[in-house]
Amino acid sequence: MVLVEGAEQGQQPRGEARRPWQCCRPFVGLTLSSVEVEASTAPPARPIIRRVITPTSRTDRSIANASAALSSQREITAEIAEVAARAGPNPQPLLDYPPYRSSRLRRPTKELHQVDPEQIELHAPVFGPQDVDPLEADLTIQRGGVPIGERMIVTGRITDGEGRAVRNQLVEVWQANAAGRYIHQRDQHPAPTDPNFIGAGRCLTDDDGAYQFTTIKPGPYPWKNHRNAWRPAHIHFSLFGTNFTQRLITQMYFPGDPLVGLDPIYQSITEQAVRDRLVASYDHDLTEPEWCTGYRWDIVLTGGGRTRTETEDDE
Ligand SMILES: [Fe+2]
Repeated sequence: MVLVEGAEQGQQPRGEARRPWQCCRPFVGLTLSSVEVEASTAPPARPIIRRVITPTSRTDRSIANASAALSSQREITAEIAEVAARAGPNPQPLLDYPPYRSSRLRRPTKELHQVDPEQIELHAPVFGPQDVDPLEADLTIQRGGVPIGERMIVTGRITDGEGRAVRNQLVEVWQANAAGRYIHQRDQHPAPTDPNFIGAGRCLTDDDGAYQFTTIKPGPYPWKNHRNAWRPAHIHFSLFGTNFTQRLITQMYFPGDPLVGLDPIYQSITEQAVRDRLVASYDHDLTEPEWCTGYRWDIVLTGGGRTRTETEDDE
């Protein structure tokens, strides 16, 4: 039996209902226009639904053509290998990195200007313990309900190159929810938002340089770098040093994620040992019974073992 989705429930056919986000996502390409419900002699409790995806309009065909014009993951992976072989091990992210398509436009093309830090400090915001509530470090209690997903603790120490604790450091994080969706106007991909999860938090490091967040493990999400491109699960981190001119922005990844090997942002650092420092460790001593898992991720601000940074525009 072939049905138009939702027709039996008196709903608008889903193929029509989905048009708005298709307009917002030019690389999706195809419309879900109908489904087949497979008959069987003993009807299961829930019908088995197989989706039949067909281009249905001129707009759909042009969207499909746009998608076809994008590079495939196989081509991106080949480019990553080619750049790595040519550049050799490099501890710094390559700013002009063709596999990360938008880096061609976002990278600096002019020499950096030196500025007077003291002059900037005269006009920059100031912050301190009075500005940061300890509850802001718990991303699971911000909306009055419990967010969906794997609750976890993320903690670590922030040190300088000599291992000295960096105290009273403002640490800010932002991330997608468990379904890989940000609460952001530009994120319109078909995954649910979570009314109980904003995805942003902050804290100050203690006297030992330690930070700690309670949050939900983010999901991977699609982006438009190439066809079928997916960002590995990650949490964005921003740190301010002793003043406003020392901001560091980076991303934390999770161990065992198969997507990191395919990700041009992660791979723009060509030295494996340095890339590894962007991956947190699962720590069973942090994991709390019947409550949450635990991950540890330390950040080193200076010296040869420091955590590498990325541009503010990274996805
Ligand atoms: Fe992200």
